[in-house]
Amino acid sequence: MSPDTVPSPKKPDPNSLAHSIPPGFVIGTATAAAQIEGASTAAGRSVWDDLSAQPGRIIDGSDTSVTCDHYSRYAEDVALMSTLGADAYRFSFAWPRLQPGGSGALDPAGIDFYDRMLDELAEHAISPFATLYHWDTPAELEVGWLDRDTALRFGEFAGLVGERFADRVDAWITLNEPATVTLNGYALGIHAPGETLLFDALPTVHHQLLGHGLAAQALRAASVPGRIGITNVHSPVHAATDSPEDAAMAQLFDIVHNRVFADPVLLGSYPDVPDELAPLFGALGGADSRDLDTICQPLDFYGLNYYMPTRVAAGAGTGASPDGTAEAMTGLPFHLVDIDEYPRTGFGWPIAPKHLGTALAEMRDRYGAALPPVYITENGASFADEVAPNGTINDPERIAYLDAHLRAALDAVAPGGAADGVDLRGYFAWSLLDNWEWAAGFTQRFGLVHVDFDTLERTPKASFEWLRQVLAARQR
Ligand code: BGC
Repeated sequence: MSPDTVPSPKKPDPNSLAHSIPPGFVIGTATAAAQIEGASTAAGRSVWDDLSAQPGRIIDGSDTSVTCDHYSRYAEDVALMSTLGADAYRFSFAWPRLQPGGSGALDPAGIDFYDRMLDELAEHAISPFATLYHWDTPAELEVGWLDRDTALRFGEFAGLVGERFADRVDAWITLNEPATVTLNGYALGIHAPGETLLFDALPTVHHQLLGHGLAAQALRAASVPGRIGITNVHSPVHAATDSPEDAAMAQLFDIVHNRVFADPVLLGSYPDVPDELAPLFGALGGADSRDLDTICQPLDFYGLNYYMPTRVAAGAGTGASPDGTAEAMTGLPFHLVDIDEYPRTGFGWPIAPKHLGTALAEMRDRYGAALPPVYITENGASFADEVAPNGTINDPERIAYLDAHLRAALDAVAPGGAADGVDLRGYFAWSLLDNWEWAAGFTQRFGLVHVDFDTLERTPKASFEWLRQVLAARQR
């Protein structure tokens, strides 16, 4: 079956997928602190706590105060991962919980929580992959990533966390998706801190990447034995038509979504921008070459998140974006065109597994020997899951989605595949739990495990059982 065939109603055979997974390939689930922990009032405030307190910002008016209450229920959640048979768990340290205000010593209560959670993972032999920044900037850091000082604060935070948890984390991810932070948070105003600066948001690219470089240096200085990497979300971009205008805007979107983040990290330079687009990049300024040296740290792995491809056309549009409509988008010289030839997720995102292979191939073609081993650090889908009268949750679309994407990735990196040459080491399903989906609140369910947001009861879905069977049937 070609990976882009519409998923058949027949449940994909877990044994068949299991046999294509090479021994040693890591499979886990991923989450983020602000989306599952709750207990946000027990810690310093984040920009997401502030944004969710503003009326109209979160689609269902929900906030970060409880979410999945993982803060109290972490042991139950780790037990679920163990039942699943997961090798690894990608979670994020909440910056405001560990360092309220974004400066000074780490908070003992925050340390204690992650100590207990890491103990629990160790007891179940689940390998911790820790993200240091998954969007929860301490609220006191005012303008956040628009300010160069936030990069210095973040580097310091990384050093403190590295020293404290050095021996307990197998892989460190400095930043999660700087592209989403810049685009949704500072350019379009969909995410915290809700700025609508369009191309004037570009300094947040440089400051986040500088923060990444400083964090990687600080982790090395703390002699952490774990591997160090960064995660970004990659979306293969294509033009809506053959017109030169659409092609130029597709190139522009590819730069601002993919290349402006990955090039400096892996190559030590910002991408070349065609002359006609150069004025848009004025806010990036003449980046200091010493900063670029800091940004381009040797990395042990690159984390790639993949959700969907993007189709771009020239001219202003209606403001539609994958994460909601943004008035600010109508001020851009391009718009995103609906990709309607694929089935869709609950968010309306096209289900296009073959493009995961394209994303991996682009990484190989663009970065060659500079590309370290890769993990797919997030991939998954929201669907309108329903609890049946007998309490079960049957989510065949999620099973088909996960099967098709994992196969597409493995096929792409196999000898002769589209991304042959990429050293793909693992895959993390997004997400373990239904969670608080940022501006979409509780309206999008991405979990392998259903969460009742009134009772907080966890119920594994059919996709959980299917993945459990895949993991159990692997060759070791
Ligand atoms: C983010 C997650 C988010 C997921 C689905 C990724 O961009 O890292 O936090 O929940 O996409 O929207």
